[in-house]
Amino acid sequence: MSNRNRAYLVNRRRSQTWALGIVLLPGLLLACGDPSSSTPDAQPPDSDILSDPLSMPLEPSLDSSKFKGAQSCGFCHENHFKEWKTSMHSYAMVDPVYRAMVKIRQEDFAGKEDKFCLQCHTPIGTRSGDIQPGFEFDQLEAISLEGVNCETCHTISSIERPFNAGLAMDVGGPMRGPIQGASPSSAHESEYSELFESSLLCSSCHDVVEVSGLNLERPYAEWLESPAAQNDMQCQSCHMKTYTGKATASSSERELHEHYFVGVGLPLEEGFLSAQEFEEMRIRVANLLQGSATITLDASAVSPGQQLDLFVTVRNNIVAHNLPTGATFNRQVWLEVIATDADSNVIYQTGTLDANGDLGNYWSDEEPFGDADLIEYGSRFTNEFGTPEIFSWRAKEHHSNSLSPLYDRTNTLFIPTSANARGPIHIEARLRFRAFAPYVLRVLGLPQYVDRIEIFDIDSISIDVPLDPA
Ligand code: HEC
Ligand code: HEC
Ligand code: HEC
Ligand code: HEC
Ligand code: HEC
Repeated sequence: MSNRNRAYLVNRRRSQTWALGIVLLPGLLLACGDPSSSTPDAQPPDSDILSDPLSMPLEPSLDSSKFKGAQSCGFCHENHFKEWKTSMHSYAMVDPVYRAMVKIRQEDFAGKEDKFCLQCHTPIGTRSGDIQPGFEFDQLEAISLEGVNCETCHTISSIERPFNAGLAMDVGGPMRGPIQGASPSSAHESEYSELFESSLLCSSCHDVVEVSGLNLERPYAEWLESPAAQNDMQCQSCHMKTYTGKATASSSERELHEHYFVGVGLPLEEGFLSAQEFEEMRIRVANLLQGSATITLDASAVSPGQQLDLFVTVRNNIVAHNLPTGATFNRQVWLEVIATDADSNVIYQTGTLDANGDLGNYWSDEEPFGDADLIEYGSRFTNEFGTPEIFSWRAKEHHSNSLSPLYDRTNTLFIPTSANARGPIHIEARLRFRAFAPYVLRVLGLPQYVDRIEIFDIDSISIDVPLDPA
């Protein structure tokens, strides 16, 4: 049993030159490092506003009236529209968790960094000038609220940097995609682009670097070093499954790509999906997670009264990126282990939930650190005092122990037995996953969504360990 996969610090400053050289305008450094030094309510002069010529321009760089909106594409591309509509890409600006976090960041920086969180969630709105300091979601244009819509992706002409919305858009140009020699249409010109068959297309939004230089999300960086990249296996092969069908009702049959973009997220906002759509999406998420990791348990027989050493190994079966990946700081992936003796007494447990539905870590209101053995996979932020922190922009460090592709890690749990216990000891272990922790929703003032959080069991296993009288 190996322990090859050591915890590492995520904040290798991959993009330091960029972060300090281009995005941070001179004079902004102090204001960023110390949010309390910014004056609330004051209208900052333009030069104080965080900007980037490509993804957060000070002056509009595109005209939002040139976009037709997803519904218009749906007239011909019915399946693509139906699938995309239920995806997290269409949820990107609706998401109440996103909106609540953006609001807190807006307050922390008094409007000076208001475009930062919008770069990828609405590249159209950020570039059209719709997103301005102090903006409110309710007042945005409908095209901005469509989030990552059809035209956002299908106008991408090149990727200028593989993170922080480094995508160049050719507005008014042809619809670019994977079809060579697409049949002509009155609605738009078509152009084949190999970018659409490549992970690079996804990189610029899926790798996120905070203004401070902290790496927040890095599935593309992980993929680059993974066996999948060596075997030319792209993000699309798992997140955009192929099927045979017609791109429009009158087109000929060809290989198409599902636009559900299945991940781990399910919309918390009720009404975003119909009950049936939600259930179908829940199944797709469960299927993606199913088999993405394997647990193995190993223990030897002990005598009553002795300590049982349980070796728990978790292996990431995903060939392309870590488990978890992406927004690992919000995700919870943990081991639940429960041991019972032959008289059904629970003699040991870890990874169970407290009365608020939280794990027994730092954030438990019931009993902070009440679960001393808790094993979690993912990442967490700490602030300048080393204290855990929820928000990336208040964090100094980002620590990750998520599992690398095809790697496993073993932990040992020490299970006490009593002198009069009867064997065998029955041990059940589950690797559990949820997109959000209840405490985060409470901190954000969104307790009404706590009951909507789904827990998925990625894998489960049980063993019986004999108790041999000494
Ligand atoms: C009037 C019908 C119609 C409308 C409306 C329409 N398209 Fe198309 N589109 C087509 C046809 C026809 C094709 C070619 C399909 C084929 O060859 O199988 C096509 C092809 C495409 C392709 C593939 C291009 C390539 O070469 O890979 C993309 C991407 C695309 N459309 C996106 C869009 C988007 C985005 C919208 C909305 C802004 C849209 N379409 C609106 C008819 C339409
Ligand atoms: C071999 C199949 C496979 C490939 C290829 C793949 N993924 Fe994934 N992806 C998964 C599985 C399985 C999950 C669910 C487990 C997890 O969250 O890690 C997932 C989850 C995700 C999530 C949600 C993570 C979270 O917890 O919030 C994102 C985002 C994602 N993948 C992006 C990408 C990107 C970007 C690429 C290409 C660079 C990619 N994936 C390539 C299988 C794959
Ligand atoms: C997140 C980016 C993204 C969004 C949003 C998106 N697409 Fe696509 N689309 C792609 C990619 C990538 C491919 C090609 C996948 C491949 O070849 O591996 C594709 C392929 C297509 C194709 C070619 C046929 C096929 O299925 O391969 C059409 C048509 C299309 N998309 C239409 C749409 C429409 C209509 C919408 C909105 C309702 C939309 N797309 C939203 C990324 C996107
Ligand atoms: C223009 C930016 C952009 C591009 C390009 C983009 N994405 Fe996304 N993607 C997002 C955003 C933003 C979200 C999260 C929306 C939310 O949950 O609020 C997301 C969510 C997802 C999810 C769901 C994650 C979850 O936790 O459920 C998957 C899977 C995904 N994207 C895959 C892809 C793949 C594959 C590509 C490339 C073909 C791609 N994306 C290209 C911005 C983008
Ligand atoms: C570089 C592009 C990019 C930027 C900038 C960005 N996001 Fe996202 N965001 C994404 C992608 C991609 C996902 C999907 C990741 C996943 O599901 O693992 C996402 C998902 C989310 C989600 C929903 C899923 C989750 O659990 O986190 C929230 C909330 C969110 N982002 C908040 C923010 C906030 C707040 C900011 C500003 C501090 C921000 N984002 C800046 C690309 C971006």
